[in-house]
Amino acid sequence: MAMNDVQLPDGATQLAEDVMRLRSCAVLQMDHHGRILDCNAGVLGVFGYRSDELVGRNFACLFSSAELDRGSDRAALTKALLHSFENQGLAMMRKDATRFRAGLLLERVEGSGDATPRVLMVVRDLSDFFQTQKRVNEAQEIALRAQRLDAVGKLTLGLSHDFNNLLSVIANSLDMLAARRTGDESARRILDIAHRAVERGTQLTRQMLAFGRGQTLVPEVSDVGHLLQSSLELYRRVCGETIQLNIQVAQGLPPIAVDTGQLEAALLNLLSNSRDAMHGVGRVVLEARLETAVLPGGKGEEEDFVCITVGDSGPGIQAEIQGSVFEPFFTTKSVGDGSGLGLSQVYGFASQSGGTATIGRSALGGAAVSLYFPVVR
Ligand SMILES: Nc1ncnc2c1ncn2[C@@H]1O[C@H](COP(=O)(O)OP(=O)(O)OP(=O)(O)O)[C@@H](O)[C@H]1O
Ligand SMILES: [Mg+2]
Repeated sequence: MAMNDVQLPDGATQLAEDVMRLRSCAVLQMDHHGRILDCNAGVLGVFGYRSDELVGRNFACLFSSAELDRGSDRAALTKALLHSFENQGLAMMRKDATRFRAGLLLERVEGSGDATPRVLMVVRDLSDFFQTQKRVNEAQEIALRAQRLDAVGKLTLGLSHDFNNLLSVIANSLDMLAARRTGDESARRILDIAHRAVERGTQLTRQMLAFGRGQTLVPEVSDVGHLLQSSLELYRRVCGETIQLNIQVAQGLPPIAVDTGQLEAALLNLLSNSRDAMHGVGRVVLEARLETAVLPGGKGEEEDFVCITVGDSGPGIQAEIQGSVFEPFFTTKSVGDGSGLGLSQVYGFASQSGGTATIGRSALGGAAVSLYFPVVR
């Protein structure tokens, strides 16, 4: 029976007619076994079936196989026959076998006289609602992560300033001792060790300072393609011969204002992370393209960025640790192999430059870390 040919019972009200024509949600009437007796025009929009294709079939054909395995159809019918059943988010299946999340309401309707009870089912497609909710949750998670990094950044900045001052005093004192050296070889060796430790400490505080956005940046209006090409040899050397490094720069990229030395340091950090994750063998792509995005914690408006991504064919960064890798001192490497400051330098530098850094999955199968820099118009 085609939808518009549905025969309404005698004395049907205007409301019943309107329900039969309703397109935004499917309304089905079933017997107590779940056999579909009648349905409205909405089954076409929601499930892709004409009503005459459904009448006579069991309503289980509208559930995804996962829900059928769970017995959701039987549970819904049993509960409806007792009284009613409601659910927001069951996985239903359209005629073309695509699945969608649905809002379901089933209610028992008494048959007249001795007639067995019937069940009325109302179904709404909630895909858009769930999609929007997913996007809102993701945006909230990103904003929370940015807030947490900001708080840790402030703490790190205070610490690194204090350590920097202490290290300067130690370095000056060592210089004075070295100047008074009396030719004692073992004293010279001890001083050398102390000097190297101070240098390492200074390097660490510099990275902490970078994370806390406390570096003195010297931005220059630059063409990213040109910058990447001019450091290509250095990048290749860091990757080593057993890693194939490719550069892809989109045509006509607008310039960005960036501290070129710090950009190079950030990319070296990312390339060495890729190299380590792949144990020195694999593929890396260094890509630059134009992207329009809303900066987390920014003006809330879309802006144009030059996005520089380092993607690799390594194992990727597990979802559970993606929220932590930008934090200072987070590392999965053994003691002595990594201090966990590489990505925090990258994040702090990108943020201080008016952009941000994000983690994703590379087309090569591994991790992709992207740096966003606002374009200069
Ligand atoms: N390309 C990547 N593939 C897989 N995991 C990665 C990648 N880049 C970073 N990681 C993970 O993120 C962690 C933090 O990286 P980060 O660069 O901040 O510190 P690190 O490399 O461990 O030490 P450091 O850079 O200070 O020597 C790494 O220990 C690793 O677990
Ligand atoms: Mg690193």
